[in-house]
Amino acid sequence: MKIAMIVAMDEDGCIGRGNELPWRLASDMSRFKRLTEADGFNAVIMGRRTWESLPDSFRPLPERVNIVMSRTTDWAGEGAENALYPGRAIEIAYADGCEECWVIGGAQIYAMFLDRVEEIHVTTVHTSGSGDVLFPEWDRSAWSEEVVERVGVDERNEFATTYSIWRRN
Ligand SMILES: NC(=O)c1ccc[n+]([C@@H]2O[C@H](COP(=O)([O-])OP(=O)(O)OC[C@H]3O[C@@H](n4cnc5c(N)ncnc54)[C@H](OP(=O)(O)O)[C@@H]3O)[C@@H](O)[C@H]2O)c1
Repeated sequence: MKIAMIVAMDEDGCIGRGNELPWRLASDMSRFKRLTEADGFNAVIMGRRTWESLPDSFRPLPERVNIVMSRTTDWAGEGAENALYPGRAIEIAYADGCEECWVIGGAQIYAMFLDRVEEIHVTTVHTSGSGDVLFPEWDRSAWSEEVVERVGVDERNEFATTYSIWRRN
């Protein structure tokens, strides 16, 4: 089972404002859906706060096993499985026969899984000072970047973005 991370961050490494995404980027949303959903045999791992930030109509994320990290033993979300520690989250995805397991945030969950993933799919949003939630410290010198796609500003994408895949050296 492949374990990968997917994140959108601005040029300062900001990923969130309050408990929301700071930008409206339709092309990035569709890529997120396409990559994480793929052929319907994947899992997503997220933090309890990110789960709560999803609109009701997107919760649980369809066609994916939704695994939510919470330290509250009796936490329950309809359509989600609760994991109390990172190894448990991976175990759930593995036991469900998932082909890919995507770590989808937020900041606390990225920090916990940074050492465990083989790929980080980064959308760089070409703006700065977007909010108050930051991606954790990340030593990019240990990783190599493949730039995959650049998207400009239009009525559905409020900032230009660059999508890259980072792989461990
Ligand atoms: N730009 C992006 O790509 C992206 C992606 C996702 C999220 N976001 C943004 O990120 C922000 C949310 O991030 P966040 O860091 O505040 O919250 P988060 O990582 O989504 O969730 C934090 C919660 O995870 C649980 N948790 C943390 N460490 C744990 C551990 N070791 N074991 C078990 N559970 C653990 C705790 O839940 P309990 O309190 O229930 O114990 C904690 O409150 C929002 O602004 C959101 O919009 C951005």
